[in-house]
Amino acid sequence: MDLLIKNGTIVTAKETFVADIAVKDGKIACIGAGLEETMSVSAKKVVDATGKLVLPGGIDAHTHLAMPFGGTVSADGYLSGTRAAACGGITTVFDYPMQRKGKGILETAEAKKVVFDQEACVDYAFHCIITDLNDGEILDEFKASVEYGITSFKCFLVYKKEGMMVDDATLIKVLLKAKEVGAITNIHAENPDVIDLNIEQFKKEGKMSAWYHYLSRPEFVEAEADKRAVHWAKSVDAPLYIVHMADKEGLEAAVEAKLAGHPIFIETCPQYLEFTCDVYKREDGRNFVCSPPMKGQESQDALWAAIRQGTIDTVATDHCPFQSYEKDWGKDDFTKIPNGCAGIENLYPYMLSAANEGKITFNRAVELCSTNPAKIFGCDQKGSLTAGKDADIVIYDPEKDFTISIDNMHSNYDHTIWEGKKLKGYPVQTYVRGTLVYDNGEFVGTPGYGEFVKRKPSR
Ligand code: URP
Ligand code: ZN
Ligand code: ZN
Repeated sequence: MDLLIKNGTIVTAKETFVADIAVKDGKIACIGAGLEETMSVSAKKVVDATGKLVLPGGIDAHTHLAMPFGGTVSADGYLSGTRAAACGGITTVFDYPMQRKGKGILETAEAKKVVFDQEACVDYAFHCIITDLNDGEILDEFKASVEYGITSFKCFLVYKKEGMMVDDATLIKVLLKAKEVGAITNIHAENPDVIDLNIEQFKKEGKMSAWYHYLSRPEFVEAEADKRAVHWAKSVDAPLYIVHMADKEGLEAAVEAKLAGHPIFIETCPQYLEFTCDVYKREDGRNFVCSPPMKGQESQDALWAAIRQGTIDTVATDHCPFQSYEKDWGKDDFTKIPNGCAGIENLYPYMLSAANEGKITFNRAVELCSTNPAKIFGCDQKGSLTAGKDADIVIYDPEKDFTISIDNMHSNYDHTIWEGKKLKGYPVQTYVRGTLVYDNGEFVGTPGYGEFVKRKPSR
């Protein structure tokens, strides 16, 4: 064997038990108690995980690395973003290539893949954003895209002036075609016209602080679009994955449809679980500007309740950080703040700390951050500690206290909304396909090691 992780407490989405894990050629070879003694397993490298938890590597199903947006490009590139991911126990990231008018899906994905292949420190997959159907040609490309390994397409119901928004007719065409080829549609749900109306009004009134970012897109603005997306998905009987769910009313509509048997999946993000809209009243409120914005306490409570009840399926980051000087463009005008925040290195530690504090179980944290995203998005080699699967493994010390600071992150941005957040427990090692990429605070991986995850159609 190449690696033996001994005596750790293995946590899967369903079980917790003490055992050893043996790894060969990047795969989990076997799992069992006392493998050295009972099965005479010997390995080139032996790690004693006594007192530690051994978890499947995290999957961040929502990142925007080096994304052109808000008049600039998001601050983490493929290298720094995936390096930070590794240091936060994430072994696969899902990034979002953006198809543009006149361009195809595969050429867009290929252009990104070339750079990922040189720079990725962990494995990676793509969802493709669709912004224009190119007179229907794009729909014809869905099948080839699924064969290529991209089995999810995203529509934005906002970002009109950025040329990223689709109308309802396009959404329905995408929903139907995705269903036909065994793919799923991801949706960013907010109502663009009401946002524009509110912004126009606030401009006239000179209300331009970060607080008005929230007031221009409050709960009901997201809820309408969530409900609309759920309505169309139900009407055409197509699967739907709602990204970054942040409001109670929309959440309830999506959960109702899900419980009635429709294939509707719900993602939320750590920032919505930690912060409320009150952050926009702070002097540095612009640093928290993302869309949808953080909402009120009632919404946050509803998100946590759904996390506990099992009706939220995944927690992912929407990682899209910008530098302070870029956020400062909107100091006196919230419409000039590039939208997005950091989280790629904080997701798994944050959810595991919540488990360590008793808010949820460790099994549930694993389910939300690893097992469910793998299942929903067709990564059959990921998301679980099972013989035959990729040896994507995190060793977690439940006794290690950690305070998040920009100084102990491994990204490329100069501030973090998570500054000062205290966590109970922290990952100490991350393995991607059996190779150590993070060791006690240090990135020890190799850019370019990360591989493209070719996904299966999931239904
Ligand atoms: O503010 C955000 N979320 N920026 C990234 C783009 C998106 O909407 O996901
Ligand atoms: Zn979004
Ligand atoms: Zn996003």
